[in-house]
Parts: sequence; C-alpha cells; structure tokens
Amino acid sequence: MTEQYLDKLSKSSTWLVTGVAGFIGSNLLETLLGRGQHVIGLDSFSTGRRENLDQVRQLVGETAWAGFSLIEGDICDLDVCRGAVKGADYVLHQAALGSVPRSLEDPLRTHASNINGHLNMLVAARDAGVRRFVYAASSSTYGDSATLPKVEDVIGKPLSPYAVTKYVNELYAHVFGLHYGMETLGLRYFNVFGRRQDPNGAYAAVIPRWFKALMEGAAVYINGDGETSRDFCYIDNVVQANILAALVSDKTALNQVYNVAFGEQNTLNALFESIRGEVAKRKPEVLSAEPIYRDFRKGDVRHSLADISKIRSLLGYTPRYSLRDGLSAAADYYARHG
Ligand SMILES: NC(=O)c1ccc[n+]([C@@H]2O[C@H](COP(=O)([O-])OP(=O)(O)OC[C@H]3O[C@@H](n4cnc5c(N)ncnc54)[C@H](O)[C@@H]3O)[C@@H](O)[C@H]2O)c1
Repeated sequence: MTEQYLDKLSKSSTWLVTGVAGFIGSNLLETLLGRGQHVIGLDSFSTGRRENLDQVRQLVGETAWAGFSLIEGDICDLDVCRGAVKGADYVLHQAALGSVPRSLEDPLRTHASNINGHLNMLVAARDAGVRRFVYAASSSTYGDSATLPKVEDVIGKPLSPYAVTKYVNELYAHVFGLHYGMETLGLRYFNVFGRRQDPNGAYAAVIPRWFKALMEGAAVYINGDGETSRDFCYIDNVVQANILAALVSDKTALNQVYNVAFGEQNTLNALFESIRGEVAKRKPEVLSAEPIYRDFRKGDVRHSLADISKIRSLLGYTPRYSLRDGLSAAADYYARHG
C-alpha cells in the first residue's frame, strides 16, 4: 500500500542514516532512495550486514542507488561522525548495539557505541548545523514502571545497561536542544520487526528467531511462562515515524520523545501461535509444534503497551500495519530469504 506520508518526500534532500546496514537503517535507506533522496550511510558492520545493502540495491534499482554513499566507520570516532554529517540536511541516527542480554554481558561495549557514539553524533551534527536530528530511543526506558499503557512522561528505573544507554541518549538530546538550539526528536521504538531483521546469533530478536526455528523444524524457546507481553511494531510504521519526525514543521513537536508502536498488547504465547500459523501456510506440519518454556530472562520488562496518542497528534503518525499484517509480510520475506 502507498502511504500518504511519502508525499512529504517530494523535495530532494540529503539524509545521514547511521546504522544503515542494520535492520531499521536499511529499511530507512530503502524508502529514502525509493523517493529520490540522497543518503549518506554510516556503519561499522558490527551487527549490520552487507547483504542488507545488497537487497536494498536490488529493490530500488541502479538509478536510485546512485544517490547513496556509504562510509564504513565507527561512531565512537568523532572525526568519522564529522565526516559523515557533512552536507546532511537530516540525521536519522540508528547506530547502536541492541539487545538487553548483550548489554549485561558486555556493558562497556554497549556503553561505548550507545552513549559515546551518540554524543559524538550530536556534537558533529551541532557543529555542522544539521537541520534535524532524529534518533532511535527505546521502550526499555520505561524500565520497572508498572504503568500501562506507557505514556512518555512516566518512566521507571532501568532494568539493564542497554536501557541506561537509551535513556542517556534522551538526556543528551534534551540538553543539546536546550543549550545549542538543536532540533532533536527521540523515537522510543517498541519491539520492531520485519524484513532484514537478523534471525541469527545469540542476540537475535524473538520474531525472526522463531520464524527461522519453525521453518527449520528447530525448537522454539519461550523465556518465562509466555504471558510476558509486548507491543510489536512492524518496520513500515517505524519508517513512517522517522520521516514524519524529520519533516514536521510544528515547533511544539520538537525536542520531544515519542512512543513508536502499533498500540496493541500481545503475549509471547499469542505471538507464537500467530507465527506458527503463518509458517504453517507453507509448511503445514509445524501446526503440531509446541514451544519449550524456560526461565525468565534477566533484565526483561514484563509487560509493554504503548500509548501512541502523542505521536499521532504531534507528528500525524498513523500506523498502517498491525502485528497480523506485519507477520504476514515478514513470513513472505523469511520464506524468500531465510
Ligand atoms: N529493533 C528493535 O526492536 C529496537 C527497539 C528499540 C530501539 N531500537 C534501536 O534502533 C536502532 C536500530 O536497531 P536495529 O534493530 O536496526 O539493530 P541492528 O543491529 O540491525 O542495526 C544497528 C546498526 O548499527 C551499526 N552499529 C552499531 N554500533 C556501531 C558503531 N559504533 N558505529 C557505527 N555503526 C554501528 C551496526 O553495525 C548495525 O548495522 C538501535 O539504536 C536500537 O537500539 C531497536
């Protein structure tokens, strides 16, 4: 379906997408190039994959691809950040090390990319006079707050080093707005999923991991009793939120953080059934597959559901893809790409 917000990309601009070889970054790249935008991509390839970029190239074609330039480098290096922001009108800062368990195992590495790297990007964007700085925040910032649905102003204490880093991102963006007149918008993503999300490795997210396991006839593990809930958000909704944040003209919308989600709560048990149903359309024998329950995972939030009224009213966000729509699209993707 063609979405209305894409009409906002009629004028050609230059965008810096950090983390461009990752899941979310490569989807931003696909949309921007598809609309004739110029994109500078920055990535260290620590978790990002060259095949994500190859896929985007194939999807958008050579003419649009000519609008892309890639810088291979680390946001922990300020000079790299300064080089990358040169000429950029908008920054969509996605580069970070994701995953709660990774941050528990290696808090220093997570801190370096997510806090030092983020601060470098803010300094570089400030000094280059970038128009708008949109950055990936996270629902993990809600931490131990039991309030549901999650409203932007009510957060708890962080439950992991990763959550600390994502909250610090917001604090730095806030003071850069306050003291240097920067226009920043933080997007608190809630469990994003969809094409090009990596199903492999110890830190893979639950949706691609389960698709892969079921397609390969491997075991699916659920951490805890399966009644843990999340507000799963399909990637196209997240791309929409980024473009709207970068281009919003209402000044009251600036220097704020926003929930980015679909606004629906689903348990892991329900998610398992939905993914099994999708995979069964191509492989009926998986209908008899059952998950294996194991211990709860350290640092995980128990329940999550976003209130998305703020982003709806200030940015005009209208998420088109429910969990069901997104899973169906993701199933097609994983069937083709594994
Ligand atoms: N996927 C989700 O559900 C989710 C939820 C909340 C927040 N986020 C945030 O969204 C952003 C993108 O996440 P994603 O799911 O696409 O993850 P991803 O791992 O697929 O992408 C992150 C990209 O950043 C790059 N990167 C990491 N450290 C870097 C560094 N020091 N210098 C340069 N590049 C570096 C990686 O190589 C990778 O390509 C991250 O900031 C993440 O914290 C994601």
